[in-house]
Amino acid sequence: MSKIFHVLFFMFVFCLSFYIAANAAETKQFLIGFSQATTTEPWRILFNKELRDEAAKYSNLKLIVRNGQDNIHKQVADVDDFIRMKVDAILISPKTAKEPSAVINKAYRANIPVIVLDRDIANDHYTQFIGGDNHKIGRAAGEYIVKLMGGKGKAKGNILEIWGGKRSTPAHDRHNGFYEIVQKESGIKLLGKGKDGDWKQDKAYEIMANAIDTFPKIDVVYAHNDPMAFGAYMAAQDAGIQKSIRFFGIDGIPMEGVRWVYDGILTATFLYKTPGDEGIRQAMKILKGEKVPKRISLPTMVIDKTNAREILKKNDLIKK
Ligand code: FRU
Repeated sequence: MSKIFHVLFFMFVFCLSFYIAANAAETKQFLIGFSQATTTEPWRILFNKELRDEAAKYSNLKLIVRNGQDNIHKQVADVDDFIRMKVDAILISPKTAKEPSAVINKAYRANIPVIVLDRDIANDHYTQFIGGDNHKIGRAAGEYIVKLMGGKGKAKGNILEIWGGKRSTPAHDRHNGFYEIVQKESGIKLLGKGKDGDWKQDKAYEIMANAIDTFPKIDVVYAHNDPMAFGAYMAAQDAGIQKSIRFFGIDGIPMEGVRWVYDGILTATFLYKTPGDEGIRQAMKILKGEKVPKRISLPTMVIDKTNAREILKKNDLIKK
């Protein structure tokens, strides 16, 4: 009898300590610092919103969001501040790949988990990377455009590619994936050397206006994001030639890219989900001591006239 009692007692103590430990992880207060590259594009606003909404679900989490204002040196200083503040984890979506490596290394060495979001850095001395598969998106755009221009082996026409920031990884991945597909087509000509639009609508407007002056015919514009595709469209509209050109972008946020597809401004865009909500979920897992994968790749999909309406309806942006 006393033996059974002992066994039961030990089992009770064991379960109780397990419960207390689990609860302590649940109630321990955490401080997370997030360094956002910029808030210029609506995609970044949505990113911050998804991140904040997810963070609000955890009563034991305090979040500090710093805006890098499109300046990587400000971002580096912000991350340095986070290290000094001894935050429990750092999230960063860096403007460029090379410059933040040293400060991210510093955080990593100080045992602060670092999650890199959307744009990668030059080495992998961080805890985790979360982002869309930009190479895959580039290939999907290439395949869509080849089909539109006459299909494999028969495609014909002139494409103007407008690059995102050349010092960031998504621009290179979006170019490389796309190039892999279109370079197989002898009838397709890529115009110019691929100008850097730094993800900005106004810069893309300038690039397009110059291209209209330089090249006799542009059939397709492939811009690395929707704001730049829209900037290029506006330049074409000002020159009165927008109807003879097809415009493609990437991001696919409902209020912007999807709306432009629905309005016939863009032929298609490709979803680039923000990593805001997943970033917080993963950070909380790491802080609870769970093991997480080194890389998480977010899903994509094509958005064109076949599904744009449905997406707008789902987001309450048009009437039923
Ligand atoms: C916003 C943005 C998006 C783009 C992403 C790439 O700043 O330019 O439009 O998809 O960054 O990192």
